Amino acid sequence: MSERLWWQDGVVYQIYPRSFMDSNSDGVGDLEGIRQRLDHLAWLGIDAVWLSPISPSPMADFGYDVADYCDVEPLFGDLAGFDRLQDEARQRGIRLILDWVPNHTSDQHAWFQESRSGRSSPKRDWYVWRNPKPDGSPPNNWQSVFGGGAWEWDEASGQSYLHSFLKEQPDLDWRNPEVVEAMHDVLRFWLDRGVGGFRIDVIHKIAKDPELRDNPLHESGHPGYLGQRHVHDENHPDTQEYLRGIRRVLNEYDARMTVGEVFIVDPKVAASYYVNGEGLHLAFNFAFLRAPWSADTFREETEAFEAALPGGCWPDLVLSNHDVPRHASRYDDPVLGEARARVAATMLLTLRGTPFLYYGEEIGMRNVAIPDDQILDPVGIHIHPAVGRDGERTPMQWSGGNGAGFSDETPWLPIGPDSDERNVEAQRDDPASLLCLYRDLLALRRTTPALHRGDYRSLDAPEDVFAFERRADASRVLVALNFSGGERRVKLGASTVRGGLRTVHGTPLPERTDEIHLAPSEAAVLVVDALD
Ligand code: NOJ
Repeated sequence: MSERLWWQDGVVYQIYPRSFMDSNSDGVGDLEGIRQRLDHLAWLGIDAVWLSPISPSPMADFGYDVADYCDVEPLFGDLAGFDRLQDEARQRGIRLILDWVPNHTSDQHAWFQESRSGRSSPKRDWYVWRNPKPDGSPPNNWQSVFGGGAWEWDEASGQSYLHSFLKEQPDLDWRNPEVVEAMHDVLRFWLDRGVGGFRIDVIHKIAKDPELRDNPLHESGHPGYLGQRHVHDENHPDTQEYLRGIRRVLNEYDARMTVGEVFIVDPKVAASYYVNGEGLHLAFNFAFLRAPWSADTFREETEAFEAALPGGCWPDLVLSNHDVPRHASRYDDPVLGEARARVAATMLLTLRGTPFLYYGEEIGMRNVAIPDDQILDPVGIHIHPAVGRDGERTPMQWSGGNGAGFSDETPWLPIGPDSDERNVEAQRDDPASLLCLYRDLLALRRTTPALHRGDYRSLDAPEDVFAFERRADASRVLVALNFSGGERRVKLGASTVRGGLRTVHGTPLPERTDEIHLAPSEAAVLVVDALD
């Protein structure tokens, strides 16, 4: 059996640094706080941590507006603190993945300051500057994802610059080879420092139509960004060449990886970012972020991505991140909410692909309602409070009491109202807790080749049940997930059960798989003999 490949066989845990652990009592999380909590991550059994941006930033988009790619934001610490965090993580077998934001910088980045200084600046063409149309209107009809037009007028130089997100986030021009080289050097800076790889922000945005033609309008008649078909400002064919270039940089190093955010929920489009093994190592499959609580939908989405993937490429699995409401909230239910969170965890950690966990999901954290006057996220401010992302970014709930063990000062976002009951300390010693289920699943996954590297095959199952087999040589596992609120009997063939787990704590494993009895919203993971 080939050697374990950490980013493929392992599990990644996303940390939103502002919200994980505040070590210096300023209400905002930091790298030293993460270091202090490494034992939690090691105990849980994850293989890598993806840190949302940690570079210096004016925080107009909470770090996704980078003012210097090769340093650490003072709120979070410094480079020495980063090295210390990385060393101590590596001692626990945990690699760090950084967030690389190639589409845009902050307007405070020295490159943009230089570019903005005048039309003859040597960095003018590092960004996308254009003259207005003869009637004075913007150069084209492109819209910002965060609301309003995508062009910002600069009075001093009489041109506008493109910004796909906030006006504080000007787009770099990837058609300029100097930009490509500078951004590759950013990758090398961190790769030389030993990072495991990168999560790449909005990679589908970096290549645009060279003529900057207008986007056609959508039939929906929706105003703004949603009202256009993004044929000229997203997913341009030239992206493939940029992906190859990024891969060549990664290939200069041993066992490093990229995972790209392709915010286009079409499995074929996402799969094209692997460039047949010459592009991204992983492209996020975001289908589950929009899936209703339905066995059929999860099965169909799983199989659509499997079918779209080029040979030899590896899928990934995501239920939550810092841009969408937490899945424990999306799938919540007054009676079955907790049981569903257990089924979701089981699905995420047993399907074929690299799972990405989002901090706090291991204790079932829910989205927190943010009062209108406390909204900080620019999406909540510029578009609508209902789509703001603060609710999924609230502080990690470590223990009960004021500050929930996150901070002894007022935290930057409110702490969940359930933190006294729902926290790491309360769940850690309770073998029936969600936290212990995550830990058990991670341990089972790690020690079972079928689960971390096996093939996937769908199995026949009754209505509302998603059942599948995972197999790697002699290692074989059968998984049955009951999405319904009723009991289900599932026939999984005549195998003897050797191990596994089920999500209703304390129910013994069946001896055989001929007919499994699942309680409402229960899942079972059954390690069986290779041959029936
Ligand atoms: C995607 C990131 O995930 C999101 O948080 C950010 O606001 C945008 N890209 C802009 O960088």
